[in-house]
Amino acid sequence: ADIDPKLIASGQKVFRKCQACHDVGAGAKNKSGPQLNGLIGRPMGSVESFNYSKVFKTAHEEGRVWDEAALAEFLAKPKSFMKGTKMAFSGLRKEQDLDAITAYLKSVGD
Ligand code: HEM
Repeated sequence: ADIDPKLIASGQKVFRKCQACHDVGAGAKNKSGPQLNGLIGRPMGSVESFNYSKVFKTAHEEGRVWDEAALAEFLAKPKSFMKGTKMAFSGLRKEQDLDAITAYLKSVGD
Protein backbone atom coordinates (compact mmCIF):
# COMPACT_ATOMS: atom_id res chain seq x y z
CA ALA A 1 0.00 0.00 0.00
CA ASP A 2 1.12 3.57 -0.59
CA ILE A 3 2.47 5.45 2.36
CA ASP A 4 1.25 8.96 3.13
CA PRO A 5 3.97 11.35 1.90
CA LYS A 6 3.35 13.69 4.85
CA LEU A 7 4.03 10.87 7.27
CA ILE A 8 7.25 10.05 5.41
CA ALA A 9 8.37 13.70 5.58
CA SER A 10 7.63 13.78 9.27
CA GLY A 11 9.56 10.54 9.74
CA GLN A 12 12.55 12.02 7.97
CA LYS A 13 12.61 14.72 10.65
CA VAL A 14 12.32 12.14 13.42
CA PHE A 15 15.28 10.33 11.84
CA ARG A 16 17.46 13.30 12.84
CA LYS A 17 17.50 11.65 16.25
CA CYS A 18 18.99 8.52 14.71
CA GLN A 19 21.41 9.78 12.11
CA ALA A 20 24.38 10.35 14.39
CA CYS A 21 24.45 6.55 14.68
CA HIS A 22 22.54 5.23 11.64
CA ASP A 23 22.64 5.70 7.90
CA VAL A 24 19.90 4.68 5.45
CA GLY A 25 19.38 4.93 1.69
CA ALA A 26 21.59 4.27 -1.33
CA GLY A 27 25.15 3.46 -0.32
CA ALA A 28 24.31 3.56 3.39
CA LYS A 29 27.23 2.58 5.62
CA ASN A 30 27.37 1.43 9.19
CA LYS A 31 28.16 4.13 11.73
CA SER A 32 28.20 3.36 15.45
CA GLY A 33 24.92 1.56 14.61
CA PRO A 34 24.14 -0.65 11.59
CA GLN A 35 22.72 0.73 8.33
CA LEU A 36 18.92 0.48 8.31
CA ASN A 37 18.08 -0.30 4.67
CA GLY A 38 15.09 -2.56 4.09
CA LEU A 39 14.58 -2.79 7.83
CA ILE A 40 10.95 -3.93 7.90
CA GLY A 41 11.09 -7.62 7.04
CA ARG A 42 14.83 -7.80 7.77
CA PRO A 43 16.08 -10.40 10.25
CA MET A 44 17.27 -8.82 13.49
CA GLY A 45 21.03 -8.49 13.83
CA SER A 46 21.69 -9.36 10.19
CA VAL A 47 24.11 -6.73 8.85
CA GLU A 48 27.15 -8.94 8.43
CA SER A 49 29.73 -6.17 8.66
CA PHE A 50 28.32 -4.97 12.00
CA ASN A 51 29.38 -6.30 15.38
CA TYR A 52 26.13 -6.62 17.35
CA SER A 53 25.81 -7.10 21.07
CA LYS A 54 24.99 -10.56 22.40
CA VAL A 55 21.25 -9.92 22.71
CA PHE A 56 21.05 -9.07 18.99
CA LYS A 57 23.19 -12.05 18.03
CA THR A 58 20.79 -14.27 19.97
CA ALA A 59 17.73 -12.64 18.36
CA HIS A 60 19.31 -13.34 14.99
CA GLU A 61 19.97 -16.99 15.85
CA GLU A 62 16.35 -17.30 16.97
CA GLY A 63 15.23 -16.11 13.54
CA ARG A 64 13.47 -13.00 14.80
CA VAL A 65 12.52 -10.45 12.14
CA TRP A 66 11.77 -6.73 12.28
CA ASP A 67 8.10 -6.05 11.68
CA GLU A 68 6.28 -2.82 12.46
CA ALA A 69 5.14 -3.94 15.90
CA ALA A 70 8.62 -5.05 17.00
CA LEU A 71 10.17 -1.83 15.71
CA ALA A 72 7.65 0.36 17.53
CA GLU A 73 8.21 -1.56 20.75
CA PHE A 74 11.99 -1.40 20.43
CA LEU A 75 12.09 2.32 19.60
CA ALA A 76 9.69 3.22 22.41
CA LYS A 77 11.99 1.61 25.00
CA PRO A 78 15.12 0.14 23.44
CA LYS A 79 16.64 -1.25 26.61
CA SER A 80 13.40 -2.92 27.74
CA PHE A 81 12.69 -4.57 24.41
CA MET A 82 16.32 -5.69 23.94
CA LYS A 83 17.84 -6.20 27.36
CA GLY A 84 21.58 -5.70 27.03
CA THR A 85 21.52 -3.74 23.77
CA LYS A 86 24.35 -1.27 23.26
CA MET A 87 22.03 1.16 21.46
CA ALA A 88 22.30 4.24 23.67
CA PHE A 89 18.98 5.87 22.85
CA SER A 90 16.29 6.68 25.39
CA GLY A 91 13.41 6.05 23.02
CA LEU A 92 10.63 7.79 21.11
CA ARG A 93 7.80 8.78 23.41
CA LYS A 94 5.14 9.86 20.90
CA GLU A 95 2.97 7.37 19.05
CA GLN A 96 2.96 9.68 16.02
CA ASP A 97 6.78 9.70 15.92
CA LEU A 98 6.81 5.89 15.95
CA ASP A 99 4.33 5.78 13.05
CA ALA A 100 6.33 8.41 11.18
CA ILE A 101 9.75 6.78 11.59
CA THR A 102 8.29 3.46 10.42
CA ALA A 103 6.81 5.11 7.32
CA TYR A 104 10.13 6.82 6.61
CA LEU A 105 12.19 3.65 7.01
CA LYS A 106 9.79 1.80 4.70
CA SER A 107 10.20 4.53 2.08
CA VAL A 108 14.00 4.44 1.85
CA GLY A 109 16.56 1.89 0.78
CA ASP A 110 16.28 -1.83 0.19
C1 HEM B 1 20.58 -0.93 16.55
C2 HEM B 1 17.02 1.91 14.92
C3 HEM B 1 18.90 5.65 17.38
C4 HEM B 1 22.95 3.06 18.03
C5 HEM B 1 19.41 -0.51 15.97
C6 HEM B 1 18.47 -1.36 15.31
C7 HEM B 1 17.47 -0.56 14.86
C8 HEM B 1 17.79 0.79 15.23
C9 HEM B 1 16.22 -0.99 14.10
C10 HEM B 1 18.59 -2.86 15.10
C11 HEM B 1 19.12 -3.09 13.69
C12 HEM B 1 19.34 -4.53 13.29
O1 HEM B 1 18.76 -5.46 13.88
O2 HEM B 1 20.10 -4.73 12.33
C13 HEM B 1 17.23 3.19 15.42
C14 HEM B 1 16.36 4.32 15.19
C15 HEM B 1 16.85 5.36 15.94
C16 HEM B 1 18.06 4.89 16.58
C17 HEM B 1 15.17 4.31 14.23
C18 HEM B 1 16.25 6.73 16.17
C19 HEM B 1 14.90 6.85 16.45
C20 HEM B 1 20.19 5.30 17.73
C21 HEM B 1 21.15 6.18 18.35
C22 HEM B 1 22.30 5.44 18.54
C23 HEM B 1 22.04 4.10 18.04
C24 HEM B 1 20.92 7.65 18.69
C25 HEM B 1 23.64 5.85 19.11
C26 HEM B 1 23.70 6.69 20.21
C27 HEM B 1 22.65 1.75 17.73
C28 HEM B 1 23.55 0.63 17.98
C29 HEM B 1 22.85 -0.52 17.57
C30 HEM B 1 21.57 -0.09 17.07
C31 HEM B 1 24.95 0.70 18.57
C32 HEM B 1 23.32 -1.97 17.70
C33 HEM B 1 22.72 -2.46 19.01
C34 HEM B 1 23.32 -3.74 19.58
O3 HEM B 1 24.10 -4.44 18.91
O4 HEM B 1 22.97 -3.99 20.75
N1 HEM B 1 18.97 0.78 15.92
N2 HEM B 1 18.25 3.57 16.25
N3 HEM B 1 20.75 4.05 17.56
N4 HEM B 1 21.47 1.28 17.19
FE1 HEM B 1 19.86 2.40 16.78
